[in-house]
Amino acid sequence: MRILVTGGAGFIGSHFIHVALEQLPDVEIVNLDLMTYAANPANVADVADDPRYSFIQGDIGDAEVVAKAMQGVTHVANFAAESHVDRSIHGARDFIMTDVLGTYVLCQAAKAAGVERYLQVSTDEVYGSIDEGAFTETHPLNPSSPYSASKAGGDLQAFAYMHTFGLPVIVTRGSNTYGPNQYPEKLIPLFVTNALDGEKLPVYGDGGQIRDWIHGRDHAAGVLAALLKGTPGEVYNIGGGNERTNMWITEQVLEQTGASRDLITYVEDRLGHDVRYALDTSKAQRELGWKPEISFDQGLADTVKWYQENRAWWEPIKSGEYREFYEQQYASLEK
Ligand code: TYD
Repeated sequence: MRILVTGGAGFIGSHFIHVALEQLPDVEIVNLDLMTYAANPANVADVADDPRYSFIQGDIGDAEVVAKAMQGVTHVANFAAESHVDRSIHGARDFIMTDVLGTYVLCQAAKAAGVERYLQVSTDEVYGSIDEGAFTETHPLNPSSPYSASKAGGDLQAFAYMHTFGLPVIVTRGSNTYGPNQYPEKLIPLFVTNALDGEKLPVYGDGGQIRDWIHGRDHAAGVLAALLKGTPGEVYNIGGGNERTNMWITEQVLEQTGASRDLITYVEDRLGHDVRYALDTSKAQRELGWKPEISFDQGLADTVKWYQENRAWWEPIKSGEYREFYEQQYASLEK
């Protein structure tokens, strides 16, 4: 079994590589990653010398590189994506290029190579916002942001390759993911690192929005289970079952880092902000024999500790391009 993992130097992709190498003694992993801003070689440094692992730097939208990376591949897991909603509000071009066009190029190459399985890593955000209850896999797609619309485009493109050409496509839709090695632009790593540095925690709107949180390792294990045991043509929701308001997360971060409540800053709400995400994961639990293992209390505490102990991982990030985005993003939101 030879798995092409795209975006394997990113957050969830690198957790996947670790979980796959642990669970599958005979697996070969090819990591194809463009190494754009949110990728980090440190995320896979500990597996670099594993003879089962190899790395290719390149774009999933580049047909030549992808054809090379696809040689001998039996399974594809496509984690490569632009994934930050706020960046997609500033401009969606990169999102469409990677999440839609890149998916197309990858499917085309996977079809040519005759792979056994193609797994598209997607998101619960393609369903849109839900006031009550939880999304099942049959819910119509109703994405709200340029990011989630791009991901929905990728899902549909992949399934079109199954319908038209017989490519065995499986889609997973994950909920908000947290854990070590996450680039500090998403809520949890941003707030944890800001709290550790005594910087403001910019809460959008009233902080009452709800997300369902899953640990990166649990998400990765769900994707692996779907890749190995899922039925082509099917979607599997991979959620943690941990619904929390953003304010709850903010309070926890302050408590666990010992930072002052004065850091809380209410800023203008995100444009088109989805109020609530919630996933029904019973299908994945029933059909894949998967369930999330890491409790949110434990996972969050461990994550805070990881950022406390790994300043060398994130401090260099919080300069240069990051700063530029940060100033642009948050200066405009200040009330
Ligand atoms: P985020 O981590 O960007 O994930 P997503 O938008 O894909 O769910 O945001 C999670 C929630 O946290 C979302 O409701 C927006 C909110 N949020 C803030 O209040 N302040 C911030 O600075 C960020 C990045 C997010």
